[in-house]
Amino acid sequence: MGLKALDLFCGMGGLSWGLKSTRKIEPIWAVDNCQTALNLYELNLPKTNLLNLDLSRQLDVTSLIEKINFNGGIDLMVGGSPCQGFTQIRNGQDLTSNPNNNFAITFAKIVKALNPIAFIYENVPQIETYKVFKDFLAEFERDKKYKISYRVLEAVNFGNPSRRSRLFVVGFRSNLGRIPNIPTGLDISPRQFWLKRKEQDGNIFYLSGLSEPWYSLLLEPNNCQLVNVEQAISDLPVLTTKTIGITRSYASSPRSIYQKWSRQDIIETDGHVVPQMRPETRKRLKEIVEGGNWRDLPEALTYKIPYKLNSGKLRRNHYSAYRRLLSKGHSPTVQGHSDFAYHYAYERSLTPRELARLMSFTDDYKLGHQYYPVVKAIGNAVPPIVSKAVALSLVEQLE
Ligand SMILES: C[S@@+](CC[C@H](N)C(=O)[O-])C[C@H]1O[C@@H](n2cnc3c(N)ncnc32)[C@H](O)[C@@H]1O
Repeated sequence: MGLKALDLFCGMGGLSWGLKSTRKIEPIWAVDNCQTALNLYELNLPKTNLLNLDLSRQLDVTSLIEKINFNGGIDLMVGGSPCQGFTQIRNGQDLTSNPNNNFAITFAKIVKALNPIAFIYENVPQIETYKVFKDFLAEFERDKKYKISYRVLEAVNFGNPSRRSRLFVVGFRSNLGRIPNIPTGLDISPRQFWLKRKEQDGNIFYLSGLSEPWYSLLLEPNNCQLVNVEQAISDLPVLTTKTIGITRSYASSPRSIYQKWSRQDIIETDGHVVPQMRPETRKRLKEIVEGGNWRDLPEALTYKIPYKLNSGKLRRNHYSAYRRLLSKGHSPTVQGHSDFAYHYAYERSLTPRELARLMSFTDDYKLGHQYYPVVKAIGNAVPPIVSKAVALSLVEQLE
């Protein structure tokens, strides 16, 4: 066995799945308080000891530390605490009242109690601007037991088909005598991954904002340094209406090197279900070109959006409403709800398997046939391709 790891706030196991795929790290403990996420984790990483604990309770934290120390400790601790406290609270509200914001400190305290050789902590980039992050760093500066580096990573730079910017903090026990290095992948500026909207002869179309040589690389199916949406999902079973509980055959043989890699040795995929769609939603989607959103609707269709009855019209800040993926671009950041973006070719939401592909989960990661809890867990996850790259680099530096 390689390095023994603990995954805190493990969710469905995006971080763990990436660690495991290095074949040099074994997640032996994982903790979360959401049973549906833990069920997914268990289905896929059955050898890990799973603990359903509430890490906002000191009693649960103490019992976790005792249990792990009693069982021989760990070499590596990883975790990404909930980020809603940093992404949803605005306008100078008191951030300390949101318990999610103290989980970074809980993470630091557990590191110090378990004393692993190294740790990886992950959260949204916004955390850097809050006091809690300074307090988190201060926890380690105080006794100088760990040397720390941190950096914002963009998942697309590692071959993930969807964007996702996350802050990664890596710590090495000081007695190793080295400062951690965090890989950046291709290191293309994240602004280039945004789509560009163009109008020509009265027609609207979207394209990737990547400049050359990256744009050509993005269109190349036999290269997986930059992977577009079509290269990620176009071989998945065709699905135009709601179907439940069916494992399905692929629509075609792999059409890209990314699809070949994703399929591993799997013959049929699960996770193919979508929620029912209102006829008026389908009508609107038909009017939107791939890559577009509600702004591309004819004026008449921008009124009476069902969930905004009181305002009558969509406001500009709902730029993501009725957003459709662009087949030859990157997907926007995958979020844990059904309408974060719609399919580029069909007027429907994305299936959990499509979302998992956009987040670099290989098809041997079983998703089952539920919809909402799976979509939520995928929207919370670290793309395994990123966790693998960070973990592999860490292992190389420790060797
Ligand atoms: C950002 S997600 C982590 C995703 C995970 N690292 C992955 O890659 O799949 C945060 C997780 O924290 C869990 N969580 C929230 N509050 C918690 C608490 N009080 N105790 C334990 N886990 C909690 C949530 O259930 C969620 O799965």
